Order: sequence, then C-alpha cells, then structure tokens
Amino acid sequence: MALLDKHGVIEKNATLLLIFSFLVVTIGGIVEIAPLFYLENTIEKVEGVRPYTPLELTGRDIYVREGCYVCHSQMIRPMRDEVERYGHYSLAAESMYDHPFQWGSKRTGPDLARVGNRYSDAWHVDHLTNPQSVVPESVMPKYGFLKHRMIEPTYIEDRLKTDQLVGVPYTSEMIANAKADFAAQVNPDGETDGLTARYGAKVNIRNFDGQPGISEMDALIAYLQVLGTMVDFSTFEPVASR
Ligand code: HEC
Repeated sequence: MALLDKHGVIEKNATLLLIFSFLVVTIGGIVEIAPLFYLENTIEKVEGVRPYTPLELTGRDIYVREGCYVCHSQMIRPMRDEVERYGHYSLAAESMYDHPFQWGSKRTGPDLARVGNRYSDAWHVDHLTNPQSVVPESVMPKYGFLKHRMIEPTYIEDRLKTDQLVGVPYTSEMIANAKADFAAQVNPDGETDGLTARYGAKVNIRNFDGQPGISEMDALIAYLQVLGTMVDFSTFEPVASR
C-alpha cells in the first residue's frame, strides 16, 4: 500500500512526526473550540440571573472558607437520574457571577445547585448545627459555631468591587449601599425597598438564623436559600428549542 509506505516516513522521523501531530491537534482543537464562540447558547444570558446580594456573597465566602465544596458539587448534569433527583440541569448562566465557580466533581453529600427554598431556614440551622439530628447516618461535620460568630460588613464595598473587576455587573449604587443592603436582608421589619429595587423583589428577606444580630449562619443560609432559584424554569426555554 503506497499510502502506508509514505506514512512510514513520518513515523521514522521524530521531527516530522512532531510537526504533523501538532498540525492535527491544532486543526482538531479549532474545530472543537471555535464554534463555541459563535453558538448563541454557550454565551446565553438568562432572565433572572443576578449578582449575589452583599449578605449572600458573604455567605458564599463562608461556604468556600469552610470547604463545603470538598463534599458538595453545584452542577446538575443533564442526565435523567440527576434531573429527577435535583431538578432542571444547571445552566452556564446560573454560575456566570460565581468567582470561582463551585461546580466541583466530588459528591460525598448531595449536589447543592438547587437546594434554595427546598428546606426551611430552621431546618438549615438544625442541620448545620448537628447534621446527625436530622439525617442520623450523615457524615457531614457540625457547623454550629457559625451561629456564634457575629459579622460586620467592614470590607463589603471592596468585596463587591473585586467581583466588579472580574465582570460582575455591580452598579456604583449597589456598592455605595452595600452596608445598608447587608443589614436590610435580615430585617424584614426595616427599610427593604432599596434592597429589592437593586436585587429584585424575589430577594429573601428574613432573620435566617432566628437570633438577634447578623451571624455567619445568617449569611450562609441566605446563600444556600438562593441557590438555583434565580431562573424561573416554568417559563424558561433553551435557545435551541425556540
Ligand atoms: C465531609 C463531607 C461534608 C462536608 C465538608 C459538608 N457536607 Fe453537607 N452534606 C454531607 C452529606 C453526606 C450530606 C447528606 C446527609 C445530610 O443531609 O446530612 C450533606 C447534606 C447537606 C445539605 C442537605 C442537602 C439536601 O439536598 O438534602 C446541605 C444544605 C449541606 N449539606 C450544606 C453544607 C454546607 C453549607 C457545608 C459547609 C459549611 C457542608 N454541607 C459541608 C457532607 C458534607
């Protein structure tokens, strides 16, 4: 076979083999990657997705600090078993304001991408304080100390600005009011119009941990309760099916 004989030349010459391998990988790479820049659904903006409120963002930082991602993923794959257990598969847009994203691949515990609104705040307090009190066979550690760690939003403006730097659309108004919004979210009896004007009427405004003051528990539960709830899937249609 004449063609295979010619191929022998490439196989016996390391430099030629390297050059041709490089060419093949480059062409293959371009064919795979380039369309993603033009496909509408890879960069699709989805209605409802908004930046985290200052309190949720603080809770998210606590989530990362405590290493919750070591046992929990936040990405529902589009497979039947996952969708039936956790709900609609995760959209890229749902984590577009996450820096860094929390997709993960380790599931010692369940995926948390849609845990928001699934349990009551009191359930979360009980569960985080003593997971075995609600799920006896749980191997999750106890996080009750979060209730006793009160937080001041001392650097919250800088925190929002840092996310703004990497593309999260925090407005100057959101940054200027970050301290007020932080406190407003745990005080339903106070002035909350500013918070809902900036982050939408769906924002959860409650005393999440049920005790006075703002604790790390408040922030973490505010974050857990918003996970996967921003997009309304009763009206959502993927671009491809429109
Ligand atoms: C050592 C692994 C581990 C770590 C670390 C861990 N978890 Fe869990 N988590 C689990 C397991 C296992 C379950 C399932 C049993 C249960 O509900 O306790 C679970 C369940 C949960 C659930 C209930 C999910 C559902 O859909 O029922 C939430 C919410 C949760 N964890 C939040 C957290 C948060 C927040 C942190 C960090 C502060 C954290 N977990 C850290 C292992 C872990």
